[in-house]
Amino acid sequence: MCGIVGYVGKNNAVDIIFKGLKKLEYRGYDSAGIAIIIDKKLEIKRSVGKLCNLGAMLDKNPISADIGIGHTRWATHGRPSEENAHPHTDPTKSVVVVHNGIIENYIELRNKLKKGIQEFQSETDTEVIAHLVKKHYKNNLLSAVQKTLCELKGSYALGIVCSEEPDKIICARQDAPLIIGVGKGENFIASDIPALLPYTRNMIFLENGDIAEITAEKIIIKDIKNNIRNRGVKNIRWDAVQAEKDGYKHFMLKEIFEQPRTIEDTFRGRIYPDEGRVYIEEIELEEKYIKDISNIYVVGCGTAYHAGLVSKFLFESFAKIPTEVDIASEFRYREPILNEKTLIIVISQSGETADTLAALRLARSKGCRTIAVCNVVGSSISREAMNVIYTHCGPEIGVASTKAFTGQLTAVYILALDWGCKRGKLTNKELRKYLKELWEIPLKISEFLKNANDVCNIAKIFAQKKHKRDFLYLGRHINYPIALEGALKLKELSYIHAEGYAAGEMKHGPIALIDESMPIVAIVIKKSKVYTKMISNIEEAKARGGTIILVSDKNNKEIAAKSEHIIYIPQTDEFVSPLMTVIPLQLLAYYTSVLLGCDVDQPRNLAKSVTVE
Ligand code: M6R
Repeated sequence: MCGIVGYVGKNNAVDIIFKGLKKLEYRGYDSAGIAIIIDKKLEIKRSVGKLCNLGAMLDKNPISADIGIGHTRWATHGRPSEENAHPHTDPTKSVVVVHNGIIENYIELRNKLKKGIQEFQSETDTEVIAHLVKKHYKNNLLSAVQKTLCELKGSYALGIVCSEEPDKIICARQDAPLIIGVGKGENFIASDIPALLPYTRNMIFLENGDIAEITAEKIIIKDIKNNIRNRGVKNIRWDAVQAEKDGYKHFMLKEIFEQPRTIEDTFRGRIYPDEGRVYIEEIELEEKYIKDISNIYVVGCGTAYHAGLVSKFLFESFAKIPTEVDIASEFRYREPILNEKTLIIVISQSGETADTLAALRLARSKGCRTIAVCNVVGSSISREAMNVIYTHCGPEIGVASTKAFTGQLTAVYILALDWGCKRGKLTNKELRKYLKELWEIPLKISEFLKNANDVCNIAKIFAQKKHKRDFLYLGRHINYPIALEGALKLKELSYIHAEGYAAGEMKHGPIALIDESMPIVAIVIKKSKVYTKMISNIEEAKARGGTIILVSDKNNKEIAAKSEHIIYIPQTDEFVSPLMTVIPLQLLAYYTSVLLGCDVDQPRNLAKSVTVE
């Protein structure tokens, strides 16, 4: 996730772009840059680190122009550095590009271009776009971009300018947001509304496949084949604060609703269900090593630890590798038996959690290979781990982790499938089936989110005083960690005590807690080997007077008879189900917190990144 801004008109593009990028810094902040055209020449300023560094550079050497594009980066391909900062240009420095998204086939395209002796200045997937546009350029920028887009696979929001056509910006959108701000004698592009609100409230929301040619006076939207596409102009009434949250009341709600896209971003370019193929470019483990792994330790804290607990089921079932999961603050102080065949996987959204970092260092000191599942490129954990698989979720601002968790689940699911195949434990048919299940998840979550209000209605009942003493969350098998995660979300957001339990373990103690005031959230998955067992556990709780809130994927009579509070979710395979079952639990915690008047995005006593022991 990165932020893009572009401007063409009578005012100073640099000012407008810089202020716009400031509003988009939430989308990424590891480097930033601006490109303008002055006297038919490109001028590019880039700097690593937060936007203020670019600001200082521009203050020192002010520049101005009436056209330009800018970018604030959240690294995906290539570490945060000045060379990798956008905008990127072609070798002759006439075409310049800013990009948000991932070009899946950039290596293949780079290799093809290299044969034509093209020099690359960065490690990014984006630079190839500038080279291709230049290659196709024959006095018509729009047509060169159209030809380039035919060659790209992946997602993109693009802003492109060319010194030979200094009056226009070409922009294009495929699976990444891009809007055009419509002004008088000036026009704008941006990744998100807040960047443009000070200048215009009239906006065009581009759709997939749209390519726009924008001058100060005109906006023409076409498709790749040059057919005109008509898009209406919408008048935006949001205030600036609403706009930063994309119209949602809180960042957390926005992040919950982003999950269909962030999950897709995490698996994009890594899974190919039709071909039955997984491709994780960044993990450099030889097949021999993968076959020889004796055991895995997965280590993390809080929500990341819960993702680890889910991964145990995946690594053991798909790849048949014995897996232990540890809380990082415990792992670092015990004496785990580690050797060179032990693989350590650390999971961390921020990549800065002190205990997880210490666990990683311990593993490295014992000679183990290490992998980080991480969201923040360039973070300490991502730098120190031998391999990193990034969850491409973009910055998570709400302190309660939501989209980062589902990104972590997606990443470990892919790793387990890959190793299952490499170790000969999964057939290609099975692989295709599981990949297809994952592929369908974003759509299923989107469907479910249309009825988020149903969860709100349940929260309204249970946020009342007579109920709010304690909650119990029950799950079994791969949904046991989701019960833990649901309870954690409720605790941290609404300050209600909640406990997650393996449903079969309840009768060994916690059942004593159950009475009429105890709400019990139970996760039941039909296609599960523990389905009937779970039903029995629910009966046990009901018999003690507990009020059951069911999360179930089956709209059948058997389930309907178990409780009047049921949240139905789309049906999935059990192994991928945590990606689905956690969504209603995130919403339940969110709405309960709102109803109780708590600070949703910054709950008391918590920090987004825990860098102390
Ligand atoms: O950045 P990390 O993933 O390493 O953070 C780990 C935990 O601190 C984090 O998941 C925490 O539990 C969240 N507040 C949960 O919502």
